[in-house]
Amino acid sequence: MLITSVRIRRRIPAGEMFQMCGIAASVLKNGEVGPVLYDCLKRLEYRGYDSVGEASVVDGKITVKKDKGKIEDVERELRISGLKGRVGIGHTRWATHGAPSQENAHPHTDCANTVAVVHNGIIENFMQLRQELEAKGHRFKSRTDTEIVAHLVEEHLRTGKGFVEAVRFAATKLTGAYALALICASEPDKVVCVRKESPLVVGTSPTGNYCASDIPAFLSRTNQVILLEDDEMAVLTADNVKLVRIDSGEELRREPFKVEWSVETALKTGFPHFMLKEIHEQPLSVRNALRTQAIYLDLMASAMSKAKKIFLVACGTSHHACLAATYAFSNLAKVAVAPVVGSEFIDSYGALVDQETVVLAVSQSGETADTLSAVRGAKDRGATILGISNTMGSTLTRLSDVYIGQNSGPEMGVAATKTFTAQLSVLIKLAVALARKRDIIRKSQLEEIEAGFGQLPNWISMILSTQQEQVKSIVEKYSDRSSFCFLGRGISVATALEGRLKLLELSYLPAIAYPAGESKHGFISVVEEGYPVIFAAPKDESYSRIIGNVMEMKARGARIISIVGEEDDDVSKLSDETIRVPSGIPTMLSPIVYILPLQLFAYYLAVRKGYDPDFPRNLAKSVTVH
Ligand code: F6R
Repeated sequence: MLITSVRIRRRIPAGEMFQMCGIAASVLKNGEVGPVLYDCLKRLEYRGYDSVGEASVVDGKITVKKDKGKIEDVERELRISGLKGRVGIGHTRWATHGAPSQENAHPHTDCANTVAVVHNGIIENFMQLRQELEAKGHRFKSRTDTEIVAHLVEEHLRTGKGFVEAVRFAATKLTGAYALALICASEPDKVVCVRKESPLVVGTSPTGNYCASDIPAFLSRTNQVILLEDDEMAVLTADNVKLVRIDSGEELRREPFKVEWSVETALKTGFPHFMLKEIHEQPLSVRNALRTQAIYLDLMASAMSKAKKIFLVACGTSHHACLAATYAFSNLAKVAVAPVVGSEFIDSYGALVDQETVVLAVSQSGETADTLSAVRGAKDRGATILGISNTMGSTLTRLSDVYIGQNSGPEMGVAATKTFTAQLSVLIKLAVALARKRDIIRKSQLEEIEAGFGQLPNWISMILSTQQEQVKSIVEKYSDRSSFCFLGRGISVATALEGRLKLLELSYLPAIAYPAGESKHGFISVVEEGYPVIFAAPKDESYSRIIGNVMEMKARGARIISIVGEEDDDVSKLSDETIRVPSGIPTMLSPIVYILPLQLFAYYLAVRKGYDPDFPRNLAKSVTVH
């Protein structure tokens, strides 16, 4: 769907973007596909809502209706639900970069308008494929990565292949993550769908077959579902669904299963709350965040390498991502950056801001008033503004000279979870890019971090699959405590602060967080018999010192709950409760993994206390007041 994850205002033309989206397709025995797709897309709107489109095939011709804007607005303007035909595809888009536009909205078509495609995901080798296709005479109408799929299929159709084989061969050429649905004018009875690392499900019924990013899209029509696996295709006709392996073309057999969920539950994919769903999405959302293209990180790194002063400005969880990133900027790139909360920035640092200043603002929503007023104040003083946001088209992205999308997709839970780990992933990639630009990163260090980036989704999955029960049992034991303290050292101070924020905002408890070394300068007076102190204690360069802090707390009767590596001996021996995370995580990446148990802890404690973790009292997802 996208073409880049960043846009440089003033330097790169508009229209380049990453997206998180919803796709839907249907092949009906009777009736028109337009209203069916419209209904599916309405139910997928939570996946994105900045552009929408549908395409169908009638009398050997493909018709496309699409535009930027919310689905209801586009419906009013184009009557997409009026699309005729029994076979069609639809798309609702979440751009994580760049202004939404008509040309970049899906579906996309080939030169001859014989193929239309909708896409969710990121095609990493689109640039190279586009050049090859352009050399063969293909003409592109958009700047998205998605459009190359239509042209690639067209290229294979020209060699005489049928639609299904043309799609299969095209799919073997793609790298990245994608869920695709395609229609073809010359084979108007079918939809072909492809899945690799982006969700795609098939619904079967006696009156027609469906395919979508998520079950709620078609759940009101059928509860008979087939889950597509990676590297599989589905060929949908009105009375059949055929599954095919992409690499071999071999046909697969898989029976549908019955989904018992209500639409409400299905939206949460079976999880009781959006927060838990979003915690579990992190292997994927971190992987997507890490797909930020090097060229754009490099542009940001250029601005930073020329700056005399660099401030990281954000609020709440985004500020904690900046705190952890500060460690990475100093240790990897050997660059001093000052993390400052948005509400304090101009009062405390405004006098220092000038044309040699870079302000890197981080905001999931891109609309947080305190962050934006800091950005505006800095802009007025001539600073260069860099932005990292989950919401393309937001005010932050519009105020930024350079911005990068964090590619998390919409976050419904008020408490930030997947957006924290995604922001930090992007920030650490940026620190690596800056270190490379300054030519100061050691080869071995670079290799360790690159390998760590590759492992992050697995490490997160491992914690989710092995430590959840342990976290729940600790919650049970400590659910009556009136306060908790979170301690860490080095980069883990950010983990401790973020763990505390999650707990206090969801459980309404006055929790405390400190750099562990600072705890003896005051906090220690609070500790008494049974007081729970939670340590984030990776085996990094601060490990021997954190053992001392654990002993100080223990000596005063604290109950020690520690999050440690699998290989840990010392801290775990001193602990009353231990949560284990995989070993071998580079220090720089540790908060992205160590925060997982703390997110789960806050979630289960809130549920245990009878609170709704998705809607904590007095809090809003986007804080647009000062
Ligand atoms: C905490 C939380 C808030 C936000 C803060 C900044 O779970 O969600 O602390 O992190 O309001 O929001 P953004 O990142 O949208 O600027």
